[in-house]
Amino acid sequence: MSETIAKKTILSGIKPTGSLNLGGYLGAVKNWVALQEDYNCLYMLADLHALTIRIDPAVLRKNSMELFALYIACGIDPEKNLLFFQSHVPQHAELSWILNCYTMFGELNRMTQFKDKSAKNAENINAGLFTYPVLMAADILLYQSDLVPVGEDQRQHLELARDIATRYNGVYGDVFKLPEGYTPKVGARIMSLTNPTHKMSKSEEDENGTVNLLDNKDAIIRKFKRAVTDSETCVRHAEGKDGINNLMSIYSAVTGKSFEEIEKEFDGRGYGDFKLTVGESVAECLAPVQQKYNDLISDKAQLEAIYKRGAEQAGYMAMKTLRKVYKKVGLIPRA
Ligand code: TYM
Repeated sequence: MSETIAKKTILSGIKPTGSLNLGGYLGAVKNWVALQEDYNCLYMLADLHALTIRIDPAVLRKNSMELFALYIACGIDPEKNLLFFQSHVPQHAELSWILNCYTMFGELNRMTQFKDKSAKNAENINAGLFTYPVLMAADILLYQSDLVPVGEDQRQHLELARDIATRYNGVYGDVFKLPEGYTPKVGARIMSLTNPTHKMSKSEEDENGTVNLLDNKDAIIRKFKRAVTDSETCVRHAEGKDGINNLMSIYSAVTGKSFEEIEKEFDGRGYGDFKLTVGESVAECLAPVQQKYNDLISDKAQLEAIYKRGAEQAGYMAMKTLRKVYKKVGLIPRA
C-alpha cells in the first residue's frame, strides 16, 4: 500500500465574505500548512456558504480569487493538496439536501452562530443561514474526513456534523466516517483589537479591530498601537485582561513563545512597547505571504489550472460517497 493511501484525510474551508484576517490565519490556515505533510488534505473555498449574506457578485468574485491565492501564499502547496472552490463540486449541494432530511429543526435552532447572525441581520434571516451547518456537514462527510482543523467558533458545527453522521449511520450502516476537530493551542479564538470580548471577524464594523493579511506594515502597526488594553501596566495573562490576553495569544502564535516567556520579556516595560513589538512581529510574519500573493494574483492561468485539477479530483472522491448515500436511501442509481 502506498504512503498516500495510508494517510488520513483532512478537509477544511473558509468563506469568502471578506478579506482573510489574522483570526482565520492563526485559527485555521496556519494549522493547515503544518498538517499538509502528514495528511491528504482538501482545502476548499466555501463560496456557497458566502451566499447566506447579501454580497455584491463582483465583490464575491474578487474575494474568492484573493482568498484562493492567499491559501497558496500562506504556504499550502498545490502539488500536495487539493485546492478547489466548493461550488465547482456539485456533490456538496447534493449531499446537503439529503442530510437536511436527517437534521432536526431543533438542532439547527440551537446553533449559536445562527442566533448571533440572525440577531445582527434581522432583515435577512434566510433559510440558507439556518441550514448552513448542514452544508458544512456535507463538505466534511463527503470526503470521509478524519480531521477538520478549525477555530473555536466552528466547534459546534463540527459536533453537529458528527451527530448527523451518527444518525444516518444508525439507519443505513457505517456510511460516514466520524470526523474529529482540531483547534490550535493558542490562536483558536483571536479577538478584535478594539473590542477584545468579541472575536475578530470578517464582518466587523470597526476596521481597526481586524488585521487583514493584506494590510500593509504601517496599517498593521497602527492597528496594534490602537489596540484596547486595560488600566494596569503589566503584561501578564490573567482573567479580565482581555485585550492583553489577546495580544499575548497573537504574539505567542506568531513567534512560538510561551506566555511565561512573553511575561519575562516585557517585565518592567510598558504596554506601548509591547503593542509595537506585537505589531512588528505580525508585519514580519505576513511580509513573505504578501510578497508571494502579489506574484500569484496576476497569474490567473496558474490559479485556474490549480482549482480545475482540485475540483476534478475532489469531485471524483465526492462521487464515491454520494453514490453510496443515494443507493442506501433508495434512489435509483444513475444509468
Ligand atoms: P469562516 O470563514 O468564518 O472562518 C474560517 C476559519 O477561520 C477560523 N476563524 C478564527 N479562528 C480564530 N479566531 C478567530 N477570530 C477566527 N475567525 C475565524 C474559523 O473557525 C474557521 O476555521 N463555516 C466555516 C467555513 C466552512 C468549513 C467547512 C470549515 C465551510 N465548510 C467545512 C471546515 C469544514 C466558516 O464560516 O469559517
